[in-house]
Amino acid sequence: CAFALLTASVLSAADKPLKVGFAQTGAESAWRTANSNSMKNEAAKRGIDFKFADGQGKQENQIRAIRSFIAQRVDAIVLAPIVETGWDPVLREAKRAGIPVVLIDRTIQTADESLYACFIGSDFYEEGRMAADWLAKKVNGTGSIVELQGTPGSAPANERRRAFGDAIAKYPGLKIIDSQSGDFRRAGGKEVMEAFLKKHGKAINIVYAHNDDMALGAIQAIEQAGLKPGQDIIIVSIDAIKEAIQAVIDGKINCTVECNPLFGPKVFDTIARMRAGEKVERKSFNKDELFDSTNASAVIASREY
Ligand code: AHR
Repeated sequence: CAFALLTASVLSAADKPLKVGFAQTGAESAWRTANSNSMKNEAAKRGIDFKFADGQGKQENQIRAIRSFIAQRVDAIVLAPIVETGWDPVLREAKRAGIPVVLIDRTIQTADESLYACFIGSDFYEEGRMAADWLAKKVNGTGSIVELQGTPGSAPANERRRAFGDAIAKYPGLKIIDSQSGDFRRAGGKEVMEAFLKKHGKAINIVYAHNDDMALGAIQAIEQAGLKPGQDIIIVSIDAIKEAIQAVIDGKINCTVECNPLFGPKVFDTIARMRAGEKVERKSFNKDELFDSTNASAVIASREY
C-alpha cells in the first residue's frame, strides 16, 4: 500500500481514540443506507471517533467534507466517491496533510495512484457480466432490453453498463433498445420506466436495472401499465437487498446479483492494520453471489440488508 509508511508514522502517534472521517455519497438507495449503517455500527463498536458526512448526491459536498476532515486533523479519511473523476486536487490536499485516504465502494480515475491508500468494494464489471450471462441463458439469447442506469459518471453505472454490453454482444438477438439514468433511486426507476413504456410499449421484453431500487420502481410502473413484472417483462437487477430477494420469491424480479454493502468491519480492520504499519492489499474485492428462483427462498430469512 503506497501510504503504508506514512500511515504508520501518522496513525501510531495517537494514543487518543482513532479519528476517522467518512465522506458518503448520500442516501439514494437501501444499499447505501445499509452501507452507512455498517460503517457507523462498526465505528461505534470499536470506540472510534467517527465523523460521518452525507454528500447528498453531490461531489462538491463530498469535497467540502474531506476539507473539513483535513482541518479537523483526522487520522484517516474514508471516501465513497460519487463519480469517478475530479478528485485529484482534494486528495492531494489530504496527502500533503499526511492523512491516508481509503476508497470504499467506488473507484476513481486518477493519473496519480499514490493519492489513495487502497480500495475496498465490489467488482462492478463482474456484477454486470453475471447479470448478462444469466439473462442470455434465461431468454435464449433473444429480446429487447431497456436499461436503467445508475448515477451518470459513477463507477457502478460505468462498469455495469460496459460489462453488460460486452457480454450481450455475443448474442445478436439481444438488443438494448433504450437506456437512461434513474440515478440509483426508486422514484427515478419508476419515472424512467413509465417513459420507456410510453415510448416502446409492448416492444420491451427485458429490464436491466443497475440497482434493485430502480428495479422496484420499474415494477410499480409495469404494474400500473397492466403488465406482469417477471413474466411479461423479465427483470434483472443488482444489489440483492432483502426487498429484491422477496421480489424474486414473488416472481416479480427474475434475478438479482449481489453487491454486498456490509464491509464496515473490513474497512476498520484495514485502517487498524495500516496504523500498525502493515502492508495492506491495494485493491480488495468483496465476494458477490447471484440470486434467482432457485436459491432466493433459502437466504431470505438471514438476509441482513
Ligand atoms: O456503488 C454501489 C451502488 O450505489 C449500489 O448498487 C447502489 O444501490 C448504490 O446506490
